[in-house]
Parts: sequence; structure tokens; C-alpha cells
Amino acid sequence: MGGGARTAADDVTATVRVAARSDLGAVIAIERVSFGDPWTRGMFGAHLTSEGGNNFLVAEQAGSVVGYAITVAVSDESELLNIAVDPEHRGQGLGALLLDAAMELCRISGAKEMWLEVRASNAGARTLYSSRGFAEMGVRKRYYHAPREDAIVLRSDLRSLVRNETVTETATGFPAGVRDPILSSASHFPRQENK
Ligand SMILES: CC(C)(COP(=O)(O)OP(=O)(O)OC[C@H]1O[C@@H](n2cnc3c(N)ncnc32)[C@H](O)[C@@H]1OP(=O)(O)O)[C@@H](O)C(=O)NCCC(=O)NCCS
Repeated sequence: MGGGARTAADDVTATVRVAARSDLGAVIAIERVSFGDPWTRGMFGAHLTSEGGNNFLVAEQAGSVVGYAITVAVSDESELLNIAVDPEHRGQGLGALLLDAAMELCRISGAKEMWLEVRASNAGARTLYSSRGFAEMGVRKRYYHAPREDAIVLRSDLRSLVRNETVTETATGFPAGVRDPILSSASHFPRQENK
């Protein structure tokens, strides 16, 4: 998507691209203001590889990283592991742009569905997920810490996605069909890892 993609807001243009190690400083800064239980640098670093079904995307605006989304696709399932947008850039369609790109990449790599977990109180994210076809599949009681809270488990069917040629271009460098048996057991949102 080298030329940039229009976001929901008419006057904002952003580019979604694959993350590089040099993006980690900006990503971690966004992570820390977005979550009470932030991922560590090592957790982000582990997802920089495109092997094992990893997709680590960043949204860039005016030369700055303003958001990111991380998914893993294994066999016909995928999972949204992390997504956040810089607070000063929220409400401009960037979260939706990142989520759409992440879902399309997983679909292209063969995933039929995407799963995620979200804090029960995170109304904004739940509205975003609902707008992308995510439906409630269950609840993990007291799943999150800092603060302790239930997780709502959501699933979306990727097979209903309309093929998006713009996003497909972004897929260059993502080897379809790469599988990692360790990741295939990753059924939990790794935000819980630093408990
Ligand atoms: C969730 C998050 C990524 C959304 O990013 P964003 O760029 O603000 O989202 P968008 O502008 O693309 O909004 C997309 C849709 O989501 C909904 N939405 C997003 N934030 C919302 C909010 N605070 N309240 C209500 N609806 C909201 C809206 O329906 C919006 O659709 P619209 O264009 O019709 O208004 C962002 O709020 C964020 O980084 N939050 C902190 C981290 C987080 O909670 N991540 C999710 C963990 S599961």
C-alpha cells in the first residue's frame, strides 16, 4: 500500500506497512499509554518475524508510527494479539484501517476465522470489532489483570470478507502457509503473559 490508503476520515491519509525493528520505540510508547498491562519489547520483538504466521503491521502518518496490529495465523484460524492507536490519532479510522489490513492478510494466508479477546469494559474496541463482524463466543472470567476483569471472546468469519486489492499489495513479504506448531497452541491473548 505504498501510496497510502484513505482512512474513514476524508482528510487523513495513512500507510499500513509491515513493522520493522526501528518501529519498536514508537510502538512501545503507544502500548504504554494504551494498556495497564503493556507488552514488553521482547514480546513485540518476537512478532517481527513473518515466520510462524506472524503479521505485525504499523500505520504511519506523516512519517510517524501512529498505530499497530499484530496477528498470528495458524492453519485455518487466526488471532488478533494486539492492536492500538496513538491516543492523539484515535477516532480517525486508523484502528479500522489496521484491523481490515490484518484480517485481509490472515484471510490471504488461508485463515477462515479470526479470534480475539477484549476487556468487557472496552466499549470503543468492542464497537470496532462488532463493525468488522466479530460476534461474542464466550467469556473468560477474571482473565485480565491491572485491573482484574473478564475477557470477552470474539470471532469473525474471514470467508465473508470482500477481497481488497489495496490490502493485498501489502501482503508482499508474508509467506502464505508458513506454520509453527508452537504457535498453533497459542489460544490465549498473550497480554496475559506478563501476569
Ligand atoms: C480500539 C482502538 C484501536 C480503535 O482505534 P481508532 O483509530 O480510534 O478506531 P477508528 O477511528 O478506526 O474507529 C473505528 C470504529 O470503531 C468504533 N470506535 C472506536 N473507538 C470508539 C470509542 N472510543 N467509542 C465508541 N466507538 C468507537 C467506532 O464505531 C468507529 O466507527 P465510526 O468510524 O463509524 O465511528 C483505539 O481506541 C485504541 O488504541 N484503544 C486502546 C487500545 C485498545 O483498547 N486496543 C484493543 C484491545 S482488545
